Amino acid sequence: MAIRNLLNRSFVAGARFMSSWFRNIEPAPKDPILGVAEAFLADQSPYKVNVGVKCAYHNDKGKPVVLECVREAERRIAGNQFMEYLPIGGSIHMIEESLKLAYGDDSEFIKDKRIAAVQALSGTGACRLFAAFQQRFHPKTQIYMPVLTWAKDAGVPIKTFRYYHPESKGLDFPGLMVDIKNAPDGSFFLLHACAHNPTGVDPSEEQWREISSQFKAKGHFPLFDMAYQGFASGDPERDAKAIRIFLNDSHLIGVAQSYAKNMGLYGQRVGCLSLLCENEKQAVAVKSQLQLIARPMYSNPPLHGALVISTVLGDPELKKLWLKEVKVMADRIIGMRTALRENLENLGSPLPWNHITNQIGMFCYSGMTPEQVDRLTNEFHIYMTRSGRISMAGLNTSNVGYVANAINEVTKSA
Ligand SMILES: Cc1ncc(COP(=O)(O)O)c(C=O)c1O
Repeated sequence: MAIRNLLNRSFVAGARFMSSWFRNIEPAPKDPILGVAEAFLADQSPYKVNVGVKCAYHNDKGKPVVLECVREAERRIAGNQFMEYLPIGGSIHMIEESLKLAYGDDSEFIKDKRIAAVQALSGTGACRLFAAFQQRFHPKTQIYMPVLTWAKDAGVPIKTFRYYHPESKGLDFPGLMVDIKNAPDGSFFLLHACAHNPTGVDPSEEQWREISSQFKAKGHFPLFDMAYQGFASGDPERDAKAIRIFLNDSHLIGVAQSYAKNMGLYGQRVGCLSLLCENEKQAVAVKSQLQLIARPMYSNPPLHGALVISTVLGDPELKKLWLKEVKVMADRIIGMRTALRENLENLGSPLPWNHITNQIGMFCYSGMTPEQVDRLTNEFHIYMTRSGRISMAGLNTSNVGYVANAINEVTKSA
């Protein structure tokens, strides 16, 4: 009896302790994009348009797309593969193809085995893995991120460098160069390789050359966040230009690749993190450490997306089809930029809209104020985040005129 009482008492005390485990946890702040999506779904208007959607391509009918090269790869894979674990570092074949895309088909760095590379959980996972690597091997360092950027909070302290210039809705190139120069020698920087998210503003080739040479002078390390190779201009080679410039200037670099947008494999979570090292021995060591970090996080990466990518990129015919399909997506987005701008100009908008076509990729940073965005939503049923960022994939030939008219209405008296 005495023992049971004692047990009961300790059970009650334990339960009280347990019940306090989550008591102090406040709800996380709501992602503004989710709020936009919810409000859009609740709106009953037949005219409603969602240009705040989370970074996913839709076709001209407003529908998600699965590329034909992917469908064909799936047909070839179906019933043909075991479902064993991949190695911690992922699919060797997928990594080989990814390196060719990022560093060039005939890259001497690939031949010399100077690149440490592992399959990653899409672009986010690749950046996160790099952050963990940086934390472990350079624990006192920070990473410089552009103002603005798409995500933060990877555990490494963040510093910022100037990037977007609100007045011109373009690049603050002088500010960017000063900030690169003023950062302590040997700093880590995150650079968007192409189609900057959220602004759509990229440096020109000449500006990339200057950035590269300033990086050289300062001994900075660039991690290229490349989520849109091929999706920006329609040509994967052209979209890798910044990386090629840095490689020509003999930098050591990192690249975080994603196949979410350029192959439409959003939900498959497949990408690649690669670090160019000084020699093969270093690359072997770095890869082994990346694997050591990945092992307790997720053990090994998912198989299906890796099979799709290696099937598509490893077969000359399917690769050709992919190149054609990625260009169709990029061209549609570029076409929507032209249509939006032309519509606004034809409506006699007193404002300049050349930034719509100067910017590139999934997003247009329109320059509209939060109040103007509120009017778009309340009066015209057009949904986007209050930053004024338009997800170009939400526009199509049926709604671009309506959206242009609404934008003109809310901005003409600005
Ligand atoms: C520049 C950039 N990098 C990386 C990502 C991450 O994408 P994912 O993790 O889906 O590959 C995004 C997503 O929108 C992005 O815009």
